[in-house]
Amino acid sequence: MDALEKSQTEEREWVRESRFGRWFLTTNIWFHYVLREAVVDFKQLLNNRLSGTTQMLDIGCHQGLAFELLEQHFQPKAIIGVDIDREFVVRAREMAQRCQCQVKCENGTVYNLDFPDASIDVIFSHQLLHHLSDQARALEEFYRVLVPGGIILVGESCRSFIHSLPVRLLFRHPKNVQKSADEYVELVKSFGFTVEDEDIKTSRPWWSRPDYGFTELLGWPQKQQEPTEVLMIARKPV
Ligand SMILES: C[S@@+](CC[C@H](N)C(=O)[O-])C[C@H]1O[C@@H](n2cnc3c(N)ncnc32)[C@H](O)[C@@H]1O
Repeated sequence: MDALEKSQTEEREWVRESRFGRWFLTTNIWFHYVLREAVVDFKQLLNNRLSGTTQMLDIGCHQGLAFELLEQHFQPKAIIGVDIDREFVVRAREMAQRCQCQVKCENGTVYNLDFPDASIDVIFSHQLLHHLSDQARALEEFYRVLVPGGIILVGESCRSFIHSLPVRLLFRHPKNVQKSADEYVELVKSFGFTVEDEDIKTSRPWWSRPDYGFTELLGWPQKQQEPTEVLMIARKPV
């Protein structure tokens, strides 16, 4: 398959987000309650284990909303943002200018990352896997480009949320690839990454619940339910 055919196949495999979904990613709800909370949770889980990070890859960077947060919390020397959607990459380049560290933004696909083997220290993969029809190929690429001992910060929405009625009505995702929190952890481990139990956090944030957290706010008793979100730190062995 030549380069053109390959990129055409990748574009076909890409399930583009709905118009509503694309708008939602630009809202304060997304920034404050989804993205920023995930970065802060990752910082807590990492507990200062990220010192000396040089190259950080923000894969599926969208419009670069995470760049400043990543710089503020992890102080990488350089951030590289990659997204398949050209329109977002243009906006991400504008966002990059707000950072003190070097930030480069590229249009590309997670299935074929344009980096040498063992060249990236940390991959920030936030809310990307559940958009991919071939999650295995993405994990193979993560393993290839990470340095030995390098880590992926994986944040995902689980099947229980992605298959809920409002999400099915308003957003677009590939079918048959959605997973529970445990299944995401097993998937990542099956590609050779180490994930310690203390490096996993599951939750049911208010925005992912059918009642948007209203009954808890009223003090009603809450049933134990499947997590809707999972964060994990996965390490490539040395
Ligand atoms: C739900 S958004 C998450 C954006 C960002 N990581 C955040 O948390 O704000 C998923 C992003 O992944 C991108 N994406 C989808 N498929 C991709 C692929 N094959 N390669 C690279 N990026 C992809 C989309 O264009 C979109 O910007």
